[in-house]
Amino acid sequence: MLTESQVRQFHEEGYLFLPETFSPTEVSILKSEAEAIYRQQRPEVWREKSGAPRTAFAAHLYNEAHGLLARHPRMIRPVEHLFGEPVYMHQYKINAKASFTGDVWQWHQDYGTWARDDGMPEPRAMNIAVFLDEVMPINGPLMLVPRSHTHGVLAAGHDTSTTSYPLWTLDEPTVTKLVEEGGIVAPTGKPGGLLLFHGNLVHGSAGNITPYPRKIVYLTLNAVSNFIRKPTRPEWIAHTDFRPIVPGDADALTRYAEGFRQAAE
Ligand code: SIN
Ligand code: MN
Repeated sequence: MLTESQVRQFHEEGYLFLPETFSPTEVSILKSEAEAIYRQQRPEVWREKSGAPRTAFAAHLYNEAHGLLARHPRMIRPVEHLFGEPVYMHQYKINAKASFTGDVWQWHQDYGTWARDDGMPEPRAMNIAVFLDEVMPINGPLMLVPRSHTHGVLAAGHDTSTTSYPLWTLDEPTVTKLVEEGGIVAPTGKPGGLLLFHGNLVHGSAGNITPYPRKIVYLTLNAVSNFIRKPTRPEWIAHTDFRPIVPGDADALTRYAEGFRQAAE
Protein backbone atom coordinates (compact mmCIF):
# COMPACT_ATOMS: atom_id res chain seq x y z
CA MET A 1 0.00 0.00 0.00
CA LEU A 2 1.19 3.55 -0.66
CA THR A 3 2.30 5.75 2.21
CA GLU A 4 0.78 9.18 2.82
CA SER A 5 3.86 10.94 1.48
CA GLN A 6 3.80 8.76 -1.67
CA VAL A 7 0.13 9.66 -2.25
CA ARG A 8 0.99 13.33 -1.76
CA GLN A 9 3.91 13.09 -4.18
CA PHE A 10 1.66 11.46 -6.78
CA HIS A 11 -0.94 14.21 -6.53
CA GLU A 12 1.62 17.05 -6.56
CA GLU A 13 4.07 15.79 -9.17
CA GLY A 14 1.75 13.56 -11.22
CA TYR A 15 3.94 10.47 -10.92
CA LEU A 16 5.54 8.10 -8.45
CA PHE A 17 8.59 5.92 -9.11
CA LEU A 18 9.19 2.80 -7.00
CA PRO A 19 12.53 1.25 -8.05
CA GLU A 20 13.09 -2.53 -8.00
CA THR A 21 9.53 -3.45 -7.08
CA PHE A 22 9.35 -6.72 -9.02
CA SER A 23 12.00 -9.41 -8.44
CA PRO A 24 14.48 -10.64 -11.06
CA THR A 25 12.53 -13.96 -11.16
CA GLU A 26 9.24 -12.18 -11.86
CA VAL A 27 10.76 -9.90 -14.47
CA SER A 28 12.67 -12.65 -16.29
CA ILE A 29 9.51 -14.56 -17.25
CA LEU A 30 7.67 -11.37 -18.29
CA LYS A 31 10.63 -10.39 -20.43
CA SER A 32 11.18 -13.74 -22.17
CA GLU A 33 7.43 -14.02 -22.84
CA ALA A 34 7.42 -10.47 -24.27
CA GLU A 35 10.20 -11.45 -26.67
CA ALA A 36 8.23 -14.54 -27.75
CA ILE A 37 5.13 -12.39 -28.32
CA TYR A 38 7.07 -9.96 -30.51
CA ARG A 39 8.08 -12.90 -32.74
CA GLN A 40 4.41 -13.71 -33.39
CA GLN A 41 2.58 -12.28 -36.38
CA ARG A 42 -0.70 -11.06 -34.95
CA PRO A 43 -2.68 -7.81 -35.21
CA GLU A 44 -2.01 -6.91 -31.58
CA VAL A 45 1.74 -6.64 -32.30
CA TRP A 46 2.30 -3.22 -33.81
CA ARG A 47 5.57 -2.67 -35.70
CA GLU A 48 7.84 0.28 -36.43
CA LYS A 49 8.21 1.39 -40.02
CA SER A 50 11.47 -0.66 -39.92
CA GLY A 51 9.52 -3.82 -39.01
CA ALA A 52 10.93 -3.95 -35.47
CA PRO A 53 8.28 -4.44 -32.77
CA ARG A 54 6.87 -1.21 -31.29
CA THR A 55 4.17 -2.45 -28.95
CA ALA A 56 2.17 -5.60 -28.21
CA PHE A 57 -1.39 -4.89 -27.09
CA ALA A 58 -3.61 -7.02 -24.85
CA ALA A 59 -0.86 -9.54 -24.02
CA HIS A 60 -2.57 -10.23 -20.69
CA LEU A 61 -5.37 -11.95 -22.63
CA TYR A 62 -3.20 -14.40 -24.60
CA ASN A 63 -0.14 -14.89 -22.38
CA GLU A 64 -0.30 -16.47 -18.94
CA ALA A 65 2.62 -14.65 -17.30
CA HIS A 66 1.30 -11.28 -18.46
CA GLY A 67 -2.17 -12.32 -17.30
CA LEU A 68 -0.70 -12.80 -13.82
CA LEU A 69 0.93 -9.37 -13.89
CA ALA A 70 -2.38 -7.82 -14.97
CA ARG A 71 -4.05 -8.93 -11.74
CA HIS A 72 -1.03 -8.71 -9.46
CA PRO A 73 -2.01 -7.06 -6.16
CA ARG A 74 1.14 -4.92 -6.37
CA MET A 75 -0.36 -3.32 -9.49
CA ILE A 76 -4.03 -3.24 -8.55
CA ARG A 77 -4.10 -2.31 -4.86
CA PRO A 78 -2.30 1.08 -5.02
CA VAL A 79 -4.59 2.23 -7.84
CA GLU A 80 -7.75 1.09 -6.03
CA HIS A 81 -6.39 2.99 -3.04
CA LEU A 82 -5.85 6.20 -5.06
CA PHE A 83 -9.23 6.04 -6.81
CA GLY A 84 -11.23 4.68 -3.89
CA GLU A 85 -13.00 2.09 -6.04
CA PRO A 86 -12.32 -1.10 -8.04
CA VAL A 87 -10.56 -0.86 -11.40
CA TYR A 88 -10.71 -2.65 -14.76
CA MET A 89 -8.12 -2.94 -17.53
CA HIS A 90 -8.54 -0.19 -20.12
CA GLN A 91 -5.33 -1.03 -21.98
CA TYR A 92 -2.36 -3.38 -21.60
CA LYS A 93 0.71 -3.00 -23.77
CA ILE A 94 4.35 -4.04 -23.86
CA ASN A 95 6.43 -1.33 -25.51
CA ALA A 96 9.63 -2.59 -27.11
CA LYS A 97 11.82 0.45 -27.89
CA ALA A 98 13.97 -2.02 -29.83
CA SER A 99 17.75 -1.72 -29.96
CA PHE A 100 18.97 0.56 -32.80
CA THR A 101 15.49 1.01 -34.33
CA GLY A 102 13.10 1.86 -31.45
CA ASP A 103 11.28 4.98 -32.62
CA VAL A 104 10.14 8.12 -30.75
CA TRP A 105 6.89 8.69 -28.86
CA GLN A 106 6.06 12.35 -29.38
CA TRP A 107 5.03 14.51 -26.41
CA HIS A 108 1.44 13.71 -25.44
CA GLN A 109 -1.08 13.15 -22.68
CA ASP A 110 -2.79 9.77 -22.60
CA TYR A 111 -6.10 11.05 -21.31
CA GLY A 112 -6.35 13.25 -24.42
CA THR A 113 -6.62 10.02 -26.46
CA TRP A 114 -8.86 8.22 -23.98
CA ALA A 115 -11.28 11.17 -23.98
CA ARG A 116 -11.24 11.89 -27.74
CA ASP A 117 -11.06 8.34 -29.11
CA ASP A 118 -12.68 6.24 -26.37
CA GLY A 119 -15.19 8.58 -24.70
CA MET A 120 -13.68 8.26 -21.21
CA PRO A 121 -15.53 10.73 -18.96
CA GLU A 122 -12.75 11.72 -16.49
CA PRO A 123 -8.97 11.33 -16.15
CA ARG A 124 -9.53 8.62 -13.53
CA ALA A 125 -7.43 5.98 -15.26
CA MET A 126 -3.87 5.31 -14.16
CA ASN A 127 -0.81 4.30 -16.11
CA ILE A 128 1.46 1.85 -14.38
CA ALA A 129 4.76 0.94 -16.00
CA VAL A 130 7.01 -2.01 -15.14
CA PHE A 131 10.55 -1.97 -16.50
CA LEU A 132 11.46 -5.29 -18.17
CA ASP A 133 14.95 -4.14 -19.18
CA GLU A 134 17.29 -1.72 -17.51
CA VAL A 135 16.09 1.78 -18.39
CA MET A 136 19.09 4.03 -18.93
CA PRO A 137 19.54 7.70 -19.85
CA ILE A 138 20.79 6.50 -23.26
CA ASN A 139 18.19 3.93 -24.42
CA GLY A 140 15.11 6.09 -24.81
CA PRO A 141 13.79 6.34 -21.25
CA LEU A 142 10.26 7.58 -20.72
CA MET A 143 10.43 11.34 -20.07
CA LEU A 144 7.82 13.03 -17.89
CA VAL A 145 7.00 16.70 -17.33
CA PRO A 146 6.32 16.93 -13.57
CA ARG A 147 3.13 18.77 -12.56
CA SER A 148 1.87 19.03 -16.16
CA HIS A 149 -1.16 16.95 -15.11
CA THR A 150 -2.60 20.00 -13.35
CA HIS A 151 -3.42 21.71 -16.69
CA GLY A 152 -6.27 19.42 -17.75
CA VAL A 153 -6.58 18.28 -21.38
CA LEU A 154 -4.35 20.41 -23.59
CA ALA A 155 -4.97 21.18 -27.27
CA ALA A 156 -3.40 18.47 -29.45
CA GLY A 157 -3.05 17.53 -33.09
CA HIS A 158 -3.57 14.04 -34.46
CA ASP A 159 -0.17 12.87 -35.70
CA THR A 160 -0.72 9.98 -38.10
CA SER A 161 2.57 10.24 -40.01
CA THR A 162 5.63 10.65 -37.76
CA THR A 163 5.61 7.15 -36.31
CA SER A 164 3.72 3.97 -37.17
CA TYR A 165 1.21 4.61 -34.37
CA PRO A 166 -1.34 7.50 -34.54
CA LEU A 167 -1.16 9.78 -31.51
CA TRP A 168 -2.66 13.08 -30.30
CA THR A 169 0.53 15.11 -29.82
CA LEU A 170 1.31 18.52 -28.27
CA ASP A 171 2.97 21.39 -30.10
CA GLU A 172 6.41 22.80 -29.24
CA PRO A 173 5.28 26.09 -27.58
CA THR A 174 2.98 24.12 -25.23
CA VAL A 175 5.72 21.69 -24.24
CA THR A 176 8.26 24.52 -23.83
CA LYS A 177 5.98 26.38 -21.43
CA LEU A 178 5.20 23.29 -19.34
CA VAL A 179 8.89 22.35 -19.16
CA GLU A 180 9.80 25.87 -18.02
CA GLU A 181 7.45 25.30 -15.10
CA GLY A 182 8.08 21.65 -14.23
CA GLY A 183 11.32 20.53 -15.93
CA ILE A 184 11.71 17.01 -17.29
CA VAL A 185 12.46 13.81 -15.39
CA ALA A 186 13.38 10.42 -16.83
CA PRO A 187 13.18 7.70 -14.18
CA THR A 188 15.86 5.10 -14.82
CA GLY A 189 16.91 1.90 -13.13
CA LYS A 190 17.05 -1.86 -13.03
CA PRO A 191 14.39 -4.18 -14.45
CA GLY A 192 11.51 -4.46 -12.00
CA GLY A 193 11.08 -0.71 -11.42
CA LEU A 194 7.48 0.49 -11.14
CA LEU A 195 6.24 3.88 -12.30
CA LEU A 196 2.75 5.28 -11.79
CA PHE A 197 1.72 8.36 -13.71
CA HIS A 198 -1.42 10.45 -14.08
CA GLY A 199 -3.45 10.25 -17.29
CA ASN A 200 -2.90 13.97 -17.94
CA LEU A 201 0.86 13.95 -17.28
CA VAL A 202 2.75 15.04 -20.42
CA HIS A 203 5.27 12.41 -21.52
CA GLY A 204 7.25 11.10 -24.48
CA SER A 205 10.50 9.36 -25.38
CA ALA A 206 13.33 9.66 -27.88
CA GLY A 207 14.46 6.95 -30.29
CA ASN A 208 16.84 4.19 -29.23
CA ILE A 209 20.04 4.01 -31.28
CA THR A 210 21.89 1.91 -28.68
CA PRO A 211 22.29 -1.89 -28.67
CA TYR A 212 20.21 -1.99 -25.45
CA PRO A 213 16.48 -2.67 -25.86
CA ARG A 214 14.15 -0.90 -23.42
CA LYS A 215 11.02 -2.95 -22.85
CA ILE A 216 8.34 -1.54 -20.55
CA VAL A 217 4.89 -2.99 -19.78
CA TYR A 218 2.15 -0.38 -19.39
CA LEU A 219 -1.13 -1.14 -17.71
CA THR A 220 -3.90 1.41 -17.83
CA LEU A 221 -6.30 0.77 -14.99
CA ASN A 222 -9.57 2.66 -15.14
CA ALA A 223 -11.97 3.25 -12.23
CA VAL A 224 -15.01 1.04 -12.99
CA SER A 225 -17.47 3.97 -12.76
CA ASN A 226 -15.36 5.81 -15.38
CA PHE A 227 -15.87 3.14 -18.08
CA ILE A 228 -15.53 4.34 -21.66
CA ARG A 229 -18.75 5.59 -23.27
CA LYS A 230 -17.86 5.82 -26.98
CA PRO A 231 -15.28 3.24 -28.07
CA THR A 232 -13.93 3.78 -31.61
CA ARG A 233 -10.71 1.75 -31.42
CA PRO A 234 -10.36 -2.04 -31.64
CA GLU A 235 -11.31 -3.93 -28.48
CA TRP A 236 -7.70 -5.04 -27.99
CA ILE A 237 -6.53 -1.40 -27.82
CA ALA A 238 -9.33 0.03 -25.63
CA HIS A 239 -11.07 -2.77 -23.76
CA THR A 240 -14.80 -2.90 -23.17
CA ASP A 241 -14.80 -5.60 -20.50
CA PHE A 242 -15.58 -3.34 -17.56
CA ARG A 243 -15.65 -6.05 -14.89
CA PRO A 244 -13.55 -5.16 -11.83
CA ILE A 245 -10.19 -6.93 -11.61
CA VAL A 246 -9.99 -9.39 -8.73
CA PRO A 247 -6.35 -9.34 -7.59
CA GLY A 248 -4.59 -12.72 -7.50
CA ASP A 249 -2.02 -14.10 -5.05
CA ALA A 250 1.04 -11.93 -4.48
CA ASP A 251 3.38 -14.86 -5.21
CA ALA A 252 1.54 -16.36 -8.20
CA LEU A 253 3.91 -14.86 -10.77
CA THR A 254 6.98 -16.10 -8.88
CA ARG A 255 5.51 -19.62 -8.65
CA TYR A 256 4.67 -19.57 -12.34
CA ALA A 257 8.22 -18.41 -13.25
CA GLU A 258 9.79 -21.10 -11.07
CA GLY A 259 7.59 -23.80 -12.57
CA PHE A 260 8.52 -22.61 -16.04
CA ARG A 261 12.23 -22.73 -15.19
CA GLN A 262 12.00 -26.25 -13.75
CA ALA A 263 10.13 -27.49 -16.81
CA ALA A 264 12.93 -26.11 -19.02
CA GLU A 265 15.68 -27.88 -17.02
C1 SIN B 1 3.42 5.76 -24.32
O1 SIN B 1 3.37 6.94 -24.11
O2 SIN B 1 2.37 5.12 -24.41
C2 SIN B 1 4.70 5.04 -24.45
C3 SIN B 1 5.89 5.83 -24.34
C4 SIN B 1 7.12 5.00 -24.30
O3 SIN B 1 7.08 3.77 -24.06
O4 SIN B 1 8.18 5.56 -24.47
MN1 MN C 1 1.42 7.62 -23.50
